Amino acid sequence: MADKANKPDEPDKPDEPNKSDKSDKLNEKVIVALDLPGRKEALRMAETLAGSGCRVKVGLELYAYEGPRLIGELKDLGFPVFLDLKLHDIPATVERTVRALLNWEPEMLDVHCSGGYEMMARAAEALHEAGAQRGYEPKLLGITVLTSMGEEALRRELGVGVTLAEHVLALARLAKRAGLDGVVASAREAPLLRQALGPDFLLVTPGIRPPGSALNDQARVLTPGEALAAGSSYLVIGRPITRADNPRRALARIWEEVD
Ligand code: C5P
Repeated sequence: MADKANKPDEPDKPDEPNKSDKSDKLNEKVIVALDLPGRKEALRMAETLAGSGCRVKVGLELYAYEGPRLIGELKDLGFPVFLDLKLHDIPATVERTVRALLNWEPEMLDVHCSGGYEMMARAAEALHEAGAQRGYEPKLLGITVLTSMGEEALRRELGVGVTLAEHVLALARLAKRAGLDGVVASAREAPLLRQALGPDFLLVTPGIRPPGSALNDQARVLTPGEALAAGSSYLVIGRPITRADNPRRALARIWEEVD
């Protein structure tokens, strides 16, 4: 205030958000899938993205190569880590596995909703209890239907007698009842899930492609802007960022459409 008195009057600036603050806020909603074949590759990618505000996901492939130690290394670089192991086993085994994985303090873990109510409830209880003991609030997500599974395969191979959307919704409702914090689902189902499950339930959505980028093996995609508008809480984005010549720039560019 004293400083201001000594300066010539400046016109008031319009209340314009700083652009980099804005994209930092948006980057918090991005979970970059580190689907890479080893520690060296994963850490190189993470170093490129460090400081951007995004989160990272360690999936089965990278976990199979490097084990849980990598989670600590990614956390040391400042990343909240989604450990995407899609657990599915008898309730006692899943509960004990969740407790063991919490020693590495991932921000998010996931289980298959098709494991049923008791499996999910015991996993959620174990996760929230272990998180509280460690002084943080991890989140447990449920896998609804894999995006590689179409309605026809769901009916013919798995004998599911309702539509894909109805099945996703039923699994997500069960997950919420069992105490999970959210689900992983296609952004296409996000409006339905958001409406049915309320504003606080996390919707983590893969199958995101910035306008003009390669589909890879994703069949039905939404852009980042469309996914946010559909009610997604977090967007899982892999190859459009990790296979870009300049991943940091690719991350920044995904918001051009939203701006
Ligand atoms: O396709 P992209 O590289 O962006 O994939 C990011 C994540 O999306 C993967 O780690 C995987 O979990 C998920 N995925 C999916 N359906 C596919 C391919 C990948 O849900 N067909």
